[in-house]
Amino acid sequence: MTDFGDRIMRWYRTSRRDLPWRHTRDPYTIWVSEVILQQTKVDQGLGYFLRFTGRFPDVQSLASASGQEVLAVWKGLGYYSRARNMHAAAGMVVSEYQGIFPETYDKLIKLKGIGKYTAAAVASISGGEPVPVVDGNVIRVFSRLFGIEEVAGSGRSFKRVAEKSLQYIHREDPGTYNQAVMEFGALFCKPGRPDCPNCIFSDECFAFLNGKVEQLPVKRPEIPRKTRWFNYIFAVTAQGDVVMQQRRDRDIWENLWELPLVESGHLLDPGELEASGLWKQLDPYNACKAVLLSDAKHILSHRIIYARFYKISGILNMHLQSGSNYKLIPVDQLKYLPVSRLMDRFFQDQVY
Ligand code: ADE
Repeated sequence: MTDFGDRIMRWYRTSRRDLPWRHTRDPYTIWVSEVILQQTKVDQGLGYFLRFTGRFPDVQSLASASGQEVLAVWKGLGYYSRARNMHAAAGMVVSEYQGIFPETYDKLIKLKGIGKYTAAAVASISGGEPVPVVDGNVIRVFSRLFGIEEVAGSGRSFKRVAEKSLQYIHREDPGTYNQAVMEFGALFCKPGRPDCPNCIFSDECFAFLNGKVEQLPVKRPEIPRKTRWFNYIFAVTAQGDVVMQQRRDRDIWENLWELPLVESGHLLDPGELEASGLWKQLDPYNACKAVLLSDAKHILSHRIIYARFYKISGILNMHLQSGSNYKLIPVDQLKYLPVSRLMDRFFQDQVY
């Protein structure tokens, strides 16, 4: 196809949604919109965008807010580490870039929480830099149109799609071009039952002409997931500190923080947990009981984790030995620790 860029830009001019972040090139505002849109769809994201930019209209106001307030404004969107990263990135912009939000890919990618997608989106939309964005919508459009048969989400698919997009990117207005491809994926070239006969690319689309619309993009094959059982203990001291540990080893969630854990071959009942070595360490005088709080099922790319959360009845009399793996973290500081989504959800229910 020779004129994909022109055709998609023409389609976008008449079919795009009118959204507030499409009336600005301010990199801070674009960044906020793109982070929110990674978390949720446009319809739902709109309200959060208005709330967030209403409270934090510029990078200075975000940087100088308390972590707690940022989390409060973010509340409901989930995945709280994104909000923590945004707060940290705003701090970096103020301290390292004199409060001027960067617009180049190379500077953006160094900011906390900004990956290839966000850096490309902000650099192209705000900075006019011709870097292609690759998200799920873009992968679908290019995979179908040009018959890219790499597994979606793989490194190879990313590379092929980025190369293809770069071939057509609009040099003067790469931001509009990138948004046009994303918007086309979101509104027309949808995952299920797109209206192919009426598509502007029906004359050349590989998938349509070859009856492969349902097969493209190629989905990652289902992999059998290994099951693990995690029994967590929510232990709070009389001073209001929570016992936490940092995950080590070469395992899932490396370096993230979590509650003390007993891993087992099934979910433990209270008696079994009280008999564990960890429980004896936390409750050496055998004065407390294990009280069941909640169960959760957590699915990762190749693991299914059944988690059970217990608390300790009574006052914890714990003395941490020096060199212990465990640390006492004040309850109000928990939200600043990097944790897994499983742990984040538990804390949202219990303490945040
Ligand atoms: N999805 C995420 N960001 C987008 C944008 N800027 N335009 C269209 N769809 C998007």
